[in-house]
Amino acid sequence: MKTDLPQSFRRLEYIPPVYTFDRVELDIALDPARTIIKSRIEVMPGKGFKSGAPLVLVGQELEFVSLRINGEAHRQFELTPETLTILALPNEGKEKFIVEIICVCIPEKNTSLMGLYVSNGNFFTQCEAEGFRKITYFLDRPDVMAKYQVTLRAREVECPVLLSNGNLLRTEKLPNGWHSATWEDPFPKPSYLFALVAGKLECIEETITSISGAKKLLQIWVEPHDLPKTQHAMDSLIASIYWDEKRFGLELDLERFMIVAVSDFNMGAMENKGLNIFNTKFVLAQPETATDADFANIESVVAHEYFHNWTGNRVTCQDWFQLSLKEGLTVFRDQEFSADQMGSESGRAVKRIEDVRLLRQLQFPEDAGPMAHPIRPNEYQEINNFYTVTVYEKGSEVVRMYQTLLGRDGFRKGMDLYFKRHDGQAVTCDDFLAAMADANGKDLSQFQNWYSQAGTPRVKVEERYDAEKKQFHLTLTQSCAPSPGQAEKNAFHIPLKMRLLTPTNDQPEILLELTQRTQSWTFDGISQRPVLSINRDFSAPIQLDFQQSEADLLTLFSGDDDPFNRWEAGQKLAMQMILNHRLPDEQLIGAYRNLLLDPDLDPAFKELALTLPAETYLYEQCSSVDPQAIFTARRAFRRELAKQLQLEWAALYQQMQTPGPFKPDAVSAGKRALKNLSLSMLLEADVAIWAPMALNQYRVADNMTDRYAALSALVIHGAKLANECLTDFFSRFVNDALVIDKWFALQSGRPPVDGQETTLNNVKRLREHAAFKMNNPNRVRSVIHAFCSNNPASFHQPDGSGYEFWADSVLALDPINPQVAARLARALDRWRLFAQPYQNQMKAALERVLASQTLSPDVREVVGKALEN
Ligand code: TRP
Ligand code: ZN
Repeated sequence: MKTDLPQSFRRLEYIPPVYTFDRVELDIALDPARTIIKSRIEVMPGKGFKSGAPLVLVGQELEFVSLRINGEAHRQFELTPETLTILALPNEGKEKFIVEIICVCIPEKNTSLMGLYVSNGNFFTQCEAEGFRKITYFLDRPDVMAKYQVTLRAREVECPVLLSNGNLLRTEKLPNGWHSATWEDPFPKPSYLFALVAGKLECIEETITSISGAKKLLQIWVEPHDLPKTQHAMDSLIASIYWDEKRFGLELDLERFMIVAVSDFNMGAMENKGLNIFNTKFVLAQPETATDADFANIESVVAHEYFHNWTGNRVTCQDWFQLSLKEGLTVFRDQEFSADQMGSESGRAVKRIEDVRLLRQLQFPEDAGPMAHPIRPNEYQEINNFYTVTVYEKGSEVVRMYQTLLGRDGFRKGMDLYFKRHDGQAVTCDDFLAAMADANGKDLSQFQNWYSQAGTPRVKVEERYDAEKKQFHLTLTQSCAPSPGQAEKNAFHIPLKMRLLTPTNDQPEILLELTQRTQSWTFDGISQRPVLSINRDFSAPIQLDFQQSEADLLTLFSGDDDPFNRWEAGQKLAMQMILNHRLPDEQLIGAYRNLLLDPDLDPAFKELALTLPAETYLYEQCSSVDPQAIFTARRAFRRELAKQLQLEWAALYQQMQTPGPFKPDAVSAGKRALKNLSLSMLLEADVAIWAPMALNQYRVADNMTDRYAALSALVIHGAKLANECLTDFFSRFVNDALVIDKWFALQSGRPPVDGQETTLNNVKRLREHAAFKMNNPNRVRSVIHAFCSNNPASFHQPDGSGYEFWADSVLALDPINPQVAARLARALDRWRLFAQPYQNQMKAALERVLASQTLSPDVREVVGKALEN
């Protein structure tokens, strides 16, 4: 029988494990149709032990074969589809005993890509968060940490390579063409960090010496034809290892560290101990096939997974509500790493702007919608739905605020204490906060609210200058809108960097700590009216409510010494004008022109400053969204910018060329970014005149950044030659899945073009394309998500056709891969924000999905919460 109320898990209902595991031995005979898993587990009483309590293991989609305890067949057990409950334990469970289980799973039938599955004929696992239970019956929870020894067996011709966590103990030849490899991981770990990989793979390898003088073997494993695309990932790994030694004193703790690339993968990558498994998208790169953005993403994802080795693996999470403990912290670490890799102060600012832009485009809407949750959620139905931009990106902002409040050295002291106290443990966000507070003797009790309250705080700014007394008065008032389950919010502890910009430049940057609802400050000796620069470097993840005059914003845009706030002022000016359906006026055009011509500014910064706020960010500023009106207003603004500065764009296009062999460094990438923005703006201004130049760039490009940018400009601006180039692009790269993903995504992401077929019709055709595969997440994302989530003006049609397509796609995907379907389901989260007829059409589509009798818990939670009152 099916119950109607979905099951919820609650943070405050945490119960320590009744039993725990010491040592785990796995023996896995790999066969795509029938893999046999034998486990031998040393069980001991856990923190929550009660004598006589049964041992309740979880398992999913497993065929149970046999159970032994202390070497004897054991018959007192109960089996349900999700549990194996072992009764009548020896000596009531008070002393260590040995459980041996044999079970079977079917990797080739596993399309969910959780647990053990097959991709291109090779075996892979994904166990976070709860995938290990699809491999064997287990205490599949992160607070049970054990030492693993793993023997893998397979037919040698089919699986010459057998990998698992830790160090290789031995390999053996077996009868009938089988062979085996035995791996031992010396560090206790939770089951979600288990991994195995087996199949026809090859690697590049390098040996480095770590800070203590130990030798480390580093390997990147891929399908043989991809070997030439692995060097950038290897360089990124080596840079990450050295960075973590230098910045945090953290050394690689294993003799060997492996990265494996797989083309069927639900997310970006996974930090399995010593055996990171990556989506190919975040490993493979060559200048001819990967863009500058791809190169940068690979660097940061490789770093992210490597940094988890300490923040996540050595110190792990007590339960999944603590996910941000490892994810927020590790995102913060990878952001800092990437910023340092930029090699200059202005490069750091570019990275900061990119990170904040992502936060605002994706996390702010999440925090205002039906799935809003604190970075440490209090409740979930399906944990896979909580790998969110809130847990990751806002989580990182919260970690960054510690550093802002405590300084870099203070933050480091807190990290040192955290590891000193908790190495080898499964802990909570409270433990992290306590380490930061104790190491610095600072009271951070109010800072706790960042973990317990959802929603983006708003800070209202009121300023008054008193010329007679030469005083500047500042009043800040904080508030936070209600979010699901939280009507009232307590005041946050908000660090705000600020500076008064004066003609004499005599005021320092200071840090305000806003802890009350309303607080006022008075600044003395200010001889002329200053311009306020506040929340510099985006020191807190808030929305500022500040009616700053256009004149002041122009001052900031032209000369704030904080590059983030300089960029921010330009965004605010553009946003206000677009929302008021205004075109850029002469003054703003002049400011843009000066910025473009300023020889002291980074090309990468200029590109960011001239890129308009995203439509989805503009939506969040409205009380009732008309997506077509916003698209039109934004596009008109862009066209005006393109036309008014046509001479400058043309000049920049020439000046930003990077002759000579391709180099992926930040400076060259910045030049390419500005050059390609210039190209796009030229086509925006006059597609007939400038399309031939784009066509030429498309043809002669020696790298994917330039080739793709040219193709994209042709497609987006509806150039006549666009289709020919698309055909050419497909045949050139037909054997490179990641490039074909770009080919799909470009077409699905194309905004509406006057007089041309709708993108939706084209997307429907692409879904029938021979190269479209519903069970490959990258391909699905490049067609379906690219349309439903990244192409708002094409998706939001008044006739609701986009939503129909969305509902059909969610229902088709769900039985194949619930995780990927649930991500897609999020595309309608903000339906209540929209004007009619959009709102009703979206509601109807959501209701149609929810009415399905066979929904996964994943999709049910997302759609159910969207429709809740
Ligand atoms: N922990 C991984 C990371 O952030 C991401 C991850 C969680 C994941 N669950 C997953 C990846 C499921 C793939 C599939 O780095
Ligand atoms: Zn992570």
